[in-house]
Amino acid sequence: MTGQAPPLWRQLQAAASVLAAVRQGESATPALARVAGELRPGAQALAFQVLRQLGRAQALRQLLAQRAPPPAADALLCTALALAWREEDAPYPPFTLVDQAVEAAKRHPQMRKQQGFINACLRRFLRERPQLVAATDADPVARWNHPRWWIARLQHEYPDNWTDILEANNRPAPMTLRVNTHRISREPLRDLLRAGHVASEPVGLHGLVLDRPHPVAAIPGFADGLWSVQDAGAQLAAELLVAGLPPAARIMDACAAPGGKTAHACELAPQAEVLALDVDPVRCERIHQNLQRLGLHAQVRAADAGDPPAWWDGQPFDAILLDAPCTASGIVRRHPDVRWLRRPGDVAQLAEQQKRLLTALWPLLKPGGRFVYCTCSVFHAEGEAQIAAFLAHNSTALLRPGPGHLLPCNGAQAGGVPDNQPSDHDGFFYAVLQKSALDAPRRPDD
Ligand SMILES: C[S@@+](CC[C@H](N)C(=O)[O-])C[C@H]1O[C@@H](n2cnc3c(N)ncnc32)[C@H](O)[C@@H]1O
Repeated sequence: MTGQAPPLWRQLQAAASVLAAVRQGESATPALARVAGELRPGAQALAFQVLRQLGRAQALRQLLAQRAPPPAADALLCTALALAWREEDAPYPPFTLVDQAVEAAKRHPQMRKQQGFINACLRRFLRERPQLVAATDADPVARWNHPRWWIARLQHEYPDNWTDILEANNRPAPMTLRVNTHRISREPLRDLLRAGHVASEPVGLHGLVLDRPHPVAAIPGFADGLWSVQDAGAQLAAELLVAGLPPAARIMDACAAPGGKTAHACELAPQAEVLALDVDPVRCERIHQNLQRLGLHAQVRAADAGDPPAWWDGQPFDAILLDAPCTASGIVRRHPDVRWLRRPGDVAQLAEQQKRLLTALWPLLKPGGRFVYCTCSVFHAEGEAQIAAFLAHNSTALLRPGPGHLLPCNGAQAGGVPDNQPSDHDGFFYAVLQKSALDAPRRPDD
């Protein structure tokens, strides 16, 4: 049996287990980690497509059966509906998906009893597909595959662009690399990739967007630390942070793990003294691993950035990056589970945390120093509004030109979103603040 792809029914079982975990409030990443290795790549592709079509699938399931079956069976039913409802996107012919979903139920101890029910629902779906789909069209959750509150929030905050954002969110993101300019420049790396049958196009100052996703180990130069995987929008952080700094600047990355932006800052400012902080010691290990692979150095500390008396040596910083914890509403192309995991109250709760960190870190900046605040969120409360409130209460902070809210967009349709660079990137918010030259640094408890 070696070398044979696992049967589709097993992959459907695995994808449904990921959906069931997300519905229980667990992120898709650990749920996928529990899937058997030989099933994982296929199960991930299916599960991600299911999460991108879950609103539609749930609306269809409701038409087919007003009372949901037990959670495992419902997850399998919705998995099959999400994959089969639109024939042009279906990874397998709808009849095959239905046959295999029924097989998956038959072979699963927790779903065996619902096999007949699943079969009846899915056969009816195949017979009446156009009418059933049309009957769900008016439901915005089915139409846009996001929770109602999320759609309403985008409509309110982006009256001209909310549909572009939702559409971009539902497309898979490209794989983008960041060149480790400390070791190689972009064109020689591009040649090396081409020789390994990986085609790429330049994006931004240090990025290469690949023709299609490849396993990391199959791309030349990973073990040699020639590149890292990083979205083009995320690559702006270190560029904004180090531009114009003296070579031996003292830099802090306050929420650094797994270290993507820290490493980029070290690549761009190799003589700088860099402190990378993260509250999570396990994630701090990943910063070490990434820096080591890339041949870079920074001081790494596990600490709460919002409590400087616990870790600050009293020496002010020339530049501080705060890539704050956020809803991640800008990176749902890559993490399609995020939209189903968040709750409406999370936005205000995370905005409070961001405010606490921003307020605690500002006094650590030198007069004239630069502070880059960013989140991978498109919601105003975590970006524009957060910074507007900070500026209103802080007379030492000046807002410098910066990207502001960068909306997620796929290269080809970037034109639909005003002010976006013509590129393919996730959603971010960036504010560049400068401290007025007269303010003396002080310990936060002074
Ligand atoms: C958006 S991620 C950072 C990603 C990272 N900058 C990168 O580019 O690889 C946010 C990080 O903030 C960390 N974090 C959350 N609260 C924190 C706090 N109070 N102090 C320091 N780190 C914190 C989380 O553990 C998480 O690793």
